[in-house]
Amino acid sequence: MSETPVLHVLNGPNLNLLGVREPDIYGRDTLADIERRCVATAAGAEVVFRQTNHEGVLVDWIQEAREGADALILNPAAYGHTSVALHDALKALSIPVIELHLSNPAAREAFRHRSYVSSAATGVIAGFGAAGYELAVQAALILIRERA
Ligand code: DQA
Repeated sequence: MSETPVLHVLNGPNLNLLGVREPDIYGRDTLADIERRCVATAAGAEVVFRQTNHEGVLVDWIQEAREGADALILNPAAYGHTSVALHDALKALSIPVIELHLSNPAAREAFRHRSYVSSAATGVIAGFGAAGYELAVQAALILIRERA
């Protein structure tokens, strides 16, 4: 681990629309608001915060986390329910991985109940809205500290 912990926070498809997309489900915070909340919670740890609508880009970024990241927080969005490629990329990591969802997929439509990410994650945070990102940052910092 580097002296300053480095957290990679990756966001999948349609999360660029947070704030306007189904606010009753996902809340009114924009992704920029959420990034600010992560940086504030990280209290000096470095936060690399990214979003893409493309599955292959997420795979590339997960692979990048193999070098330089001390923990990975991933909101895979819909790809979590479909992507073996994300699962395989995550399995190649040796750092803590936190799967994150704003909503609680287990309480929603049946097609959201399957996650290809959960079985490759250290743990899952879901259903706490934007606050879940802060919880994930806290969890990541605890896991990093415990591994040091
Ligand atoms: C989501 C839940 C997914 O089911 C959905 O496809 C998303 C967002 C969440 O953060 O609640 O796009 O990952």
